[in-house]
Amino acid sequence: MMKNKNMTGQTAFVCGASKGIGAATAIELSKQGVNAVLLARSKEGLDDVISKLDKSEEQDHRTIIADFSSPKNLEKKVGDFLKDFDKDIEILINNTGGPKPGPIINANPSEFIDTFNQHVICNHILVKCLVNRMKKANYGRIINIISTSVKQPIRGLGVSNTIRGAVASWAKTLSFELGEFGITVNNVLPGFTETERLHEIFQKKSKTSGTDIESIIIEAQTQIPLKRFANPSETAKAICFLASPDADYINGVNLPVDGGRLQTL
Ligand SMILES: NC(=O)c1ccc[n+]([C@@H]2O[C@H](COP(=O)([O-])OP(=O)(O)OC[C@H]3O[C@@H](n4cnc5c(N)ncnc54)[C@H](OP(=O)(O)O)[C@@H]3O)[C@@H](O)[C@H]2O)c1
Repeated sequence: MMKNKNMTGQTAFVCGASKGIGAATAIELSKQGVNAVLLARSKEGLDDVISKLDKSEEQDHRTIIADFSSPKNLEKKVGDFLKDFDKDIEILINNTGGPKPGPIINANPSEFIDTFNQHVICNHILVKCLVNRMKKANYGRIINIISTSVKQPIRGLGVSNTIRGAVASWAKTLSFELGEFGITVNNVLPGFTETERLHEIFQKKSKTSGTDIESIIIEAQTQIPLKRFANPSETAKAICFLASPDADYINGVNLPVDGGRLQTL
């Protein structure tokens, strides 16, 4: 396997790392010699991912059990962790569970607030916790896992479409401010990716529409020029590239990893 230059010995905070895209990202980063700090709610899930991480560069992988539905809880957990962790932290992958699907008109106002907290406020807290270490190193990578809905809202994902736009605007603004410190801020926009999240969305659609799940899958794949869903490792490789020094001059972008499904330029 070809290694990206100079990632060995770096440390990455990888959120939502107990499964799906986050877990795949931690695995890819570890193959580059990176030390991973994994965050999620499930200890068992994180322990399982830790067991799959590459340790050939004698990496030191850690976990933080935290619930992003409570920004205060997250801030405390990360603050406590950092007190005893004196390594540089070069990479932050902001990622968490996707918002509940459903038509926007049915959404309860509190769902917007909860989702804003889980996505925008938690991302912001993590950046505030880590940015001084990145500034000191004059190097940093902040990568936010959002959705293609940033470019083209997706029907039936009302709360998600709304909050994803907020995350993208927050990230772009941050990229203006942090570039001078050698810190880049970019977003990865996954398309249909084979994870639990995708399965849940299709199950819900099947229940509400009365259509069998096989037909829903075929209909979804028809929309993708590559005619298949992404494997999480494919998304993770794109994230890993943005996290590498090879992506030094890429800043403030939204990178779709969607097999060409988006209709926008
Ligand atoms: N898969 C797709 O097709 C797709 C498409 C577009 C966008 N996305 C977006 O990409 C992101 C990752 O998706 P995915 O498919 O990898 O999702 P996933 O398989 O459901 O994984 C989500 C991860 O986030 C963690 N998480 C969920 N709620 C959390 C909370 N309250 N606090 C802390 N951690 C939490 C989960 O761990 P615990 O349960 O252990 O906490 C898990 O590790 C989501 O925002 C999703 O909406 C996915």
